[in-house]
Amino acid sequence: MKTPLIYLDNNATTAVAPEVLEAMLPYLRDGYGNPSSMYSFAGAAHKAMEKAREQAAALLGANPGEIVFTSCGTESDATAILGAFEAQPEKRHFITSRVEHSAVIAMGQYLEHRGLRVTYLDVDEKGQISLDQLEAAMTPDTGIVSLMYANNETGTIFPIAEAAALAKERGVVFHVDAVQAVGKIPINLATLPLGYLAMSGHKLHAPKGVGVLYIRRGTPFRPFLRGGHQEGGRRAGTENVPYIVGLGAACELAAQHIQDENTRVRRLRDKLETGLLRAVSEARINGDVTSRLPNTTNISFKYVEGEAILLLLDQEGICASSGSACTSGSLEPSHVLRSMGVPFTYAHGSVRLSLSRYTTEAEIDKTLDVLPKVIARLREISPYRDLADDALPA
Ligand SMILES: Cc1ncc(COP(=O)(O)O)c(C=O)c1O
Repeated sequence: MKTPLIYLDNNATTAVAPEVLEAMLPYLRDGYGNPSSMYSFAGAAHKAMEKAREQAAALLGANPGEIVFTSCGTESDATAILGAFEAQPEKRHFITSRVEHSAVIAMGQYLEHRGLRVTYLDVDEKGQISLDQLEAAMTPDTGIVSLMYANNETGTIFPIAEAAALAKERGVVFHVDAVQAVGKIPINLATLPLGYLAMSGHKLHAPKGVGVLYIRRGTPFRPFLRGGHQEGGRRAGTENVPYIVGLGAACELAAQHIQDENTRVRRLRDKLETGLLRAVSEARINGDVTSRLPNTTNISFKYVEGEAILLLLDQEGICASSGSACTSGSLEPSHVLRSMGVPFTYAHGSVRLSLSRYTTEAEIDKTLDVLPKVIARLREISPYRDLADDALPA
């Protein structure tokens, strides 16, 4: 009998909710009109898209006119950052953090390549930025500050309201990459003083390949994709109506489930985490446990390698992620854990487990049974097990 799949990798992507699929199907079948066309057949697609805009705006506390549909979180991040610099060509300085998703880190590297100055804010051992460092880094030359709301690997939540307020005081445009935060914690743009926000459908039970860029009215902006007049001239290209409809439905569902996320899902995550720390010696949590997404735990097991843990979990039908990636034959800990100063033997043995509204208590119990045995098996064969701490790689 096939082992049932236990999916604990919801920060990588999520299952499409059945309600989302149902909402999409009519626009994949008969409702294929181009929302920009004038006849009434296409008007139905246009109407459905505008409903989705309202649903996304309602989840974020935004005005529907400030919602621009994109193809993904990466496009939303790139459009915000490039759009802010295009609109303020005299500005030559970008601020972000060392632990951003590659969608933003790569933009920093690209801007450096183009001759701009980039400040990467440090993080402490919990993965937190310092607001003092942010304040000191901003100059009249700063074109945009881009920070993530919550970290995809550790779940650490940055003090976004405070950071955005500092930027506003200095007249600096502020972008938040909220790809991991939307749907997991309440966000209200009516009270958050920021210019841009990026989100992605596939992190909240909509399909892959659809996202949102929120652009507050009055924020300096030039479009990245130029062409047709779709999305109020802010993002050219015929809109992906079925996926946008799915995203809208997912936003409405997320609003209904946010309470569950912060009670039931949080309790399951805490049960998993405390159970693992109790069952396995020399394990530690990576991230800020006082300011963290309710669905995420990043846990390191000394002396073992994350990828080996993943392979053995996979054999048991459990899907998870690790904080190390195999690059050119050597296992490199992630830039997030490295920036937090997680020691070598812990950083290599890190696993990210991320839950969703579909995670059940039985799945958590099964994982609590399996994972400690996996660690024990790997520690028996670990080359590091018998080395004194000062003989281990730094
Ligand atoms: C924090 C963060 N930003 C951006 C992205 C990119 O989103 P997408 O996969 O929709 O391009 C991700 C995806 O993992 C993410 O976690």
